[in-house]
Amino acid sequence: EADLESKLPLKGKKILITAGPTYEAIDPVRFIGNHSSGKMGFDIANEAAKLGAQVILVAGPTHLKAKSSAIEVVNVVSAQEMYDACHLYYNDVDVTIAAAAVADYRPKVVALQKIKKTTDEFSIDLEKTKDILASLGAIKKNQFLIGFALETQNEIENAKLKIQKKNLDLIVLNSLQDEGAGFKKETNKVTFIDKDFKIEPMELKTKESVATDILNKVISYFGKI
Ligand code: CTP
Ligand code: CA
Repeated sequence: EADLESKLPLKGKKILITAGPTYEAIDPVRFIGNHSSGKMGFDIANEAAKLGAQVILVAGPTHLKAKSSAIEVVNVVSAQEMYDACHLYYNDVDVTIAAAAVADYRPKVVALQKIKKTTDEFSIDLEKTKDILASLGAIKKNQFLIGFALETQNEIENAKLKIQKKNLDLIVLNSLQDEGAGFKKETNKVTFIDKDFKIEPMELKTKESVATDILNKVISYFGKI
């Protein structure tokens, strides 16, 4: 019993994880997207399953595959689809980790036909997508809510503002400045900031080890409540 608990510290817990980019359609053959590989979110999902959790992984377009039958993958394309999927599961989960690189803007109108190159100049009107994480923070009950932040200036201050604005318990600040961290890379250099603004810089490490560090925060949270 005690052994099982120490080996599977997240047994009985449900974790919602978002991963990957979102694609926002311009016309039937084009979209606005980003370089997120989805690896960070999938690594967290795989690690959480190993620790005994039941995982719902809401994933934008990626070639990655989940490694456990304890992971239910919900494939989505756009920010709106990711929003809808997250709200479908949110009330039922103990933890949510938002690792997706959600598009901030989408075309105001999606052309029904492929846009032809008839003019020398062309522009698209964009509108903001819904902030999925902030919307979950706004209706938070007991869920432990973790977000990511990608900043290139005033990193700590901006990350703290995101904790407040999105009602987070913990934020994982990504440092893009360091060699070997960020999009398309196998490694990440992160700093944890909790809701009391306690700051914990971590070493440069593999995304798998970052996933383990994040889940250790989740485990210690459950140890305290
Ligand atoms: N996020 C989200 N929905 C969005 C945008 C972001 O759920 N429409 C989540 C991301 O998954 C991440 C966190 O919010 O966990 C922060 O994302 P980030 O891009 O760093 O911040 P934004 O709030 O989008 O602000 P900005 O890009 O202007 O810094
Ligand atoms: Ca953003």
